[in-house]
Amino acid sequence: MCGACTVLLDGVVVRACLVFAVQANSCVITTIEGVADEDGGSHPVQDAMSRAHGLQCGFCTPGMVMSIIALLERNPDPDDREIREGLSGNLCRCTGYQGIVDAVRIAVRSNGVTNAEQGRPAVALGHVVRRTEDRRLLTGHGQYVDDVRLPGTLQVAFVRSPFPRADIVDIDVSAAERFPGVRAAYTPADLNHLARDMRSTIEIFATSTAPPFRELLASAQVRYVGDPVVMIVADSRYIAEDAAELVDITYAELPPVIGLDAALRDEHIVQAELGTNIAATLSSPPDPRVDDAFAEATFVLDETFEQHRLAEEQAAVAALSSAAPPAASPPRRFSRRCCTSPATSWRQPSRT
Ligand code: FES
Repeated sequence: MCGACTVLLDGVVVRACLVFAVQANSCVITTIEGVADEDGGSHPVQDAMSRAHGLQCGFCTPGMVMSIIALLERNPDPDDREIREGLSGNLCRCTGYQGIVDAVRIAVRSNGVTNAEQGRPAVALGHVVRRTEDRRLLTGHGQYVDDVRLPGTLQVAFVRSPFPRADIVDIDVSAAERFPGVRAAYTPADLNHLARDMRSTIEIFATSTAPPFRELLASAQVRYVGDPVVMIVADSRYIAEDAAELVDITYAELPPVIGLDAALRDEHIVQAELGTNIAATLSSPPDPRVDDAFAEATFVLDETFEQHRLAEEQAAVAALSSAAPPAASPPRRFSRRCCTSPATSWRQPSRT
């Protein structure tokens, strides 16, 4: 429910993933592909998003554009609070929301007219630089990992924790393994030894406290709602998702740690092996020039910033081959694979 699939159903903004086909019967559905003018020119909102740099990877953009169009239909001159409220159902993981809010303001000022500079390359500093990929991303033609279909691609579904914190008492995948079309059902014991050298991103920056080993699948304990515990590999996404529902996991619930303050109090330790909820301490070496700059500054703003994560998730599609790479080119390494070709035989690792 991130809002990326937002469309208009008879002019009403809806998330397509939450609408049954029967509900859409006889309705007019408008998607991002249907908002440009008849000559193929951009809609003013698409143009404004490009001008204000309201997109980066473009994943959320079609849904964001549809929500903005619906917002301006309801309220042609929203203030900042109304803009943010109107877009509160759309999540953007990479751009930041300010550019998107700016885009709404530009769209309001444009009075329904697409800017004539559309597509003109930037020639100097001081001009809005149009990114070459903007048009593709703003018109719904971005390609992402889930759009790539290699022949015979197997699909994966994860069984995830419904609890913020719990001990895993037992895992039974036998019913899922027997489900027609399932190639394998992997438990933590099957996979975690394959990733012993996989460390969390924070380790790169840490100056104290070794960060914990990051498991592929939660083994003894789940630490957040959605923590993956079992991985089902099947011939299709739907088979994998149906089989995932047959996995039986017994949990023993533990008190959750909610919020930064509770975490810092260390009443409950999320990573027992660390003995504290502080995974790492990052600091910069003292520099007297910083103190001088503060001393000379007209205004000094002292704030505490909370950020919910360090980095964006990455994904890649890879076709594995048994052929050795040419001697001149070293093997390429991917931090994470999410699809593979059946040429890689998916053998069930022996259970221990
Ligand atoms: S541009 Fe919004 S998720 Fe990347």
